[in-house]
Parts: sequence; structure tokens; C-alpha cells
Amino acid sequence: MLTMEQIQDIKEKMHLPKVVTDKSVTTYIGNANGISYSLYTLIPGSASWIHYTANDDDNSFTERYTILSGELEVEREGEKIFLYQGDVIDTKMNPAVHTCYAKETVEMLFEMTSSFFERNFTERFIIHRDARKIQEVDGYTYHHCSRIRDYSIELWKRMEPTRNVSIVSVGSYFHDIGKLAIPLEILNKPGKLTKEEWNIIKMHTTLGAEMMKNHEVERLREAAFIVEEHHERYDGKGYPYGLAGNEISLEASIVSVVDAFDAMTTDRVYRGAMTIEEAIEEMKDGKGTQFNPRVVDEFLKMLEEKNNKWD
Ligand SMILES: [Fe+2]
Repeated sequence: MLTMEQIQDIKEKMHLPKVVTDKSVTTYIGNANGISYSLYTLIPGSASWIHYTANDDDNSFTERYTILSGELEVEREGEKIFLYQGDVIDTKMNPAVHTCYAKETVEMLFEMTSSFFERNFTERFIIHRDARKIQEVDGYTYHHCSRIRDYSIELWKRMEPTRNVSIVSVGSYFHDIGKLAIPLEILNKPGKLTKEEWNIIKMHTTLGAEMMKNHEVERLREAAFIVEEHHERYDGKGYPYGLAGNEISLEASIVSVVDAFDAMTTDRVYRGAMTIEEAIEEMKDGKGTQFNPRVVDEFLKMLEEKNNKWD
């Protein structure tokens, strides 16, 4: 009998196409009768999301996950369930967003209509290639982006439980993609920025939106507005356009709150981190001025439920 490590080793040697992210590895196995088969492996300690990808009217669509090994904790529609070997998540039968927590390595057989799978697989490959580019330029930004994405999705799910998470997911992940176009000596400058330098930094919103609008992946093009609006303020004093209140999308309002909180609680080159309690006070101060009050309320509730932990 082969051990898990040996099986892993064989899979590595087979050079099957794969998409590697910080949460999962999708290894393409092959296709038959219009269905693509892959191995979807969740990395221990990760949370990821499974949701129905096709249009509602497409009856022939298949998207199914069968647990092969490990224990998977799933939260859907406010209910928590545990799935084990042989259990199936069929997104057509249950199109709600499934939040999947893997305490240990969880392996699933992932079956999907081939045309969808191919597009999805290629898109994810490109997205993670671009994500790695951000990591190469700025390690901080990369980890910051993953955290922003995770918390933005969680907040989005609480506020809009029935709507798709994929636009928020890529929009929040790439919210600072425009920083790739900003010189590093300005981005990482310790001390005060000059007015000109500050104006250059502000351009990361419009430059980023431009990069998204021209992106080869449709999902990223659709999420460009989040990148463009993530530094707008509820009172209209933000940038680049000075949008106010509900002129700012809920998606961008969420990213703005999560982004600000993460920046406050993380050490940066130009200042030390605040404590969680200090950052919570800042969020309350900014409620209705910098931030959308509804988003702040939900954010603080979420934090409280996590015992004010942020990691
Ligand atoms: Fe930003």
C-alpha cells in the first residue's frame, strides 16, 4: 500500500497541469464525456469557497466535489456541517456559497463541465501568476492582499449572503495591483512623503483599474471598479473621484474598511502597528466619515465573533 507521501510524489513526477494557490492545489487529471476531472487539494489551515459557477438556466452543467480524504468543515447558509470520505458537494443541488475550512489536508475529486473547467482553470492560472508578480515586487503587499481578500469575502457573505463572491474575491485581492506601477522608493519610503510623491501613490487606484480593465480574464475586468474605488471615502473626501455615500459600491466600501484595519494593525516602514483595540477605536471614529457605517457595524460584529483576533 502506498503512503500519502508516495502518492504525492508520483503525482509531482507526472507533471500534470496544476494551479497552485496559497489555499489549494488543483491538479488536472483528464476529461471524458464532456466532464473534466481534477484533484482539488486544500492546504491545512486554509479556508476557501465553493459556489455555483454556471448560469442558473444551464441544466447540463456539472460542478461536483467528492471528498477523497480528510475532514472538511463546511459552513453554508449559516449552518455548519462536517464532510468525510465519499461525501459530495454538488453545487447545482445547493448553489449557496460553501465556506470550506480544512484543518488537515483534504483531497477532493473535482468534476466540472469541460468547457467551464478549461476557462476556469486557465483564468485561475493567470490570476495566480499575476498574484506572484505582486509578491516578487512587494512581499508585504502580497500577504496583505490575501488577508484583505479573506476578510472581504467574509464580510460580503454576511452582508450579501446570496450573491456571488467571485468579483469581490478578485477585486479585493488585486485592490493594490496599481502599486506595481509605483516606484518602490516611494512605496517604501520611511518618513513623510512630499506632495508630489503622495500624488503618485494615489495614482495606484486609477492605474490599477486600467490594468484590470485591460486584463485578459473577464472576472478581473468586471472587478476593476473595486480597485478604482477602494480609497473613496463615505464623506466624499477620498480619491480618485471624491464619490460619496452610496455612489461608492458596497464591494469597494468593504475593501476600504478591511484594508484600513489591516494597515493599522500591521507594522509598516513608516510607523509601528496599533493594537487591535486602538484600531477598533479608529474604525468607530471613521464610521460615517471615512467609512460606510453599515460596513463598519458588520465588520466590528465579525471581529467580536472572532474574539478580536486578526491574522
Ligand atoms: Fe490601496
